[in-house]
Parts: sequence; structure tokens; C-alpha cells
Amino acid sequence: MKSLTAAQIDATLEHTRQIGVSNIDYDRCSQELIDHGYSIVTIPVHLQKDFWKTVELYPTIPKACKAEFSFPDLTDGFMPFGMEYANSTNNVDLCERYCYRDKYRSEHRQHAFADHQFYRHIVDFEGGISAIAERVLENILRKFAVSEPIETRPSSYLQFCSYNKEYRKADREYLQDRHEDGHLITFVKATRDGLVIFPNGERQRVTLADDEIIVFTGSLLTELSDGRIPYMDHAVLNPAVQVERSSLVYFVIPELKRKYTSLVERRQLDLERIANENHESFGNVPFTAAVAE
Ligand SMILES: [Fe+2]
Repeated sequence: MKSLTAAQIDATLEHTRQIGVSNIDYDRCSQELIDHGYSIVTIPVHLQKDFWKTVELYPTIPKACKAEFSFPDLTDGFMPFGMEYANSTNNVDLCERYCYRDKYRSEHRQHAFADHQFYRHIVDFEGGISAIAERVLENILRKFAVSEPIETRPSSYLQFCSYNKEYRKADREYLQDRHEDGHLITFVKATRDGLVIFPNGERQRVTLADDEIIVFTGSLLTELSDGRIPYMDHAVLNPAVQVERSSLVYFVIPELKRKYTSLVERRQLDLERIANENHESFGNVPFTAAVAE
């Protein structure tokens, strides 16, 4: 067999770096989630690019476009400000949010907003992060000797949060109060620090390099694992000065129309009911109640 030249090896490595998925140590990531409830992983360059493009392009979306592309009953599109709040305190999240659900992509094409560059980068980011999420979950299941996969992409959603300066309230400790998401896992990438997590109840600041994203667990995974996997509380600090902050968050939710058995004790689980209740407790419309599938 002919050996590769240095240039060919460089090109292969660069390609691997670009597509990225194979760069992630899924075994380490899944074990950290099981043991500690969070893990920091690297993301490929094209996803970093998509992230920064969404941040750059969000302010260019016309107001009328946002009003037209708004489907709060489906947790899709631009959501009304103040709709979502922390279920522990009822304090509203001080950010605008845009939700993208891949399952509605064909419906989105009927709207002009689907041609906006912001939307295109959101679609690309979701494609990459959903593939990473599937593999993380697959590795977690494997550690519990479960080989049957859990489908997540159609039920999951990507959320862009824009913590505009004007929403900041001086008397609040957090822009988003302490909570856990109530999903399986959540990925977060932000333009600046502010995110804090509470491993073992102790507050810890999250700082990420440009090529890193944090993933943490939600109580749906705790339920699924019979309490073996802890869920991670988190919050967004209120900065001392008025600064903008944007984040992209990917919520991983299992397909809700099938029945599940827990990973260890093999109990019957109604994840649809639990996921709907969790979602509603933040002010959202339940995932499956309002939608004729
Ligand atoms: Fe959250």
C-alpha cells in the first residue's frame, strides 16, 4: 500500500477537524455526564462558524419577520418575550428567544424567513449538534448495556437566546434563575461567560474556549437511569455592567410517542407525561398536547 505524503495527512486531519464529529471523545463525555452531570467537548470549526454567524445576523432580522414567524404553541419560531420563566421562582428569563425544531422544516419553507441567512446557519448548526447529541446518548446507553437507540432529533429543538442590554434588571441575581431543564441533555454555547452550573450543589462558573461547548444532564435522564445519572442545575448570572449576551442551546428530548423502560430497574416510564409537565412548568405549551401528529 502506498504511504500518504505529509500534505495528504495534513489534508485528512484538516478534513477530520472540519467535520469534527470524530474528534469528540464520546466515551469520556458520556462517562462524565453519568458521573458528574456535565462535560465540555470540542465542536468542529463549521459549527463554531454557524454559531458566530447566528450571533452576527440576529440583529438583522426585521421585526415584521419575527412577528410572522412565531408559533409559540409548537415551541417553534420567535417566542413572545416573557413567556418562559424559571419554574422555581417564576422570574421571567430576561432574553428574547428563537426556537428551531427540525420536524417543522418543510413548513418553514412556506415563509420568507426560511431564506434568511440566520435561519440557514441555525439549520446547519442543528444538523451538526443533533448528530453529536445522538452519539453522546448512544454512548450513555451502551454504558448501561442498552443497545436499542433512542430517537431524539424530531422532538428536540435548538434555541437562540438574546440577552439584550435593555432587558437587564439591576436587582436580579440572575438573568435566568437556577433551574434544571427537565430534558435528557442540553448543549450550551454562548458569546461570553455568565453561565453557572451547580455540581453537588456548589456554584461553578463555566468558561469555554472558542471550540468548546458544554453539555449537561436533565431530570428526564435521571428518571430514565433510575437516579443513577444526576441532573444539573444551572443559571445565567446578571453581569455587573450592561453587556449583550447571546447563546445557542440545544435541548435533547426523546421521541415521546413510544413507551420506555428505565435503564437499570426496567420500570415502565411515561416520558411523554413527564416531558410535557416539565416543559409546561417553564411557561411553555406541552410538546404533544397541542399538535396533531
Ligand atoms: Fe436551562
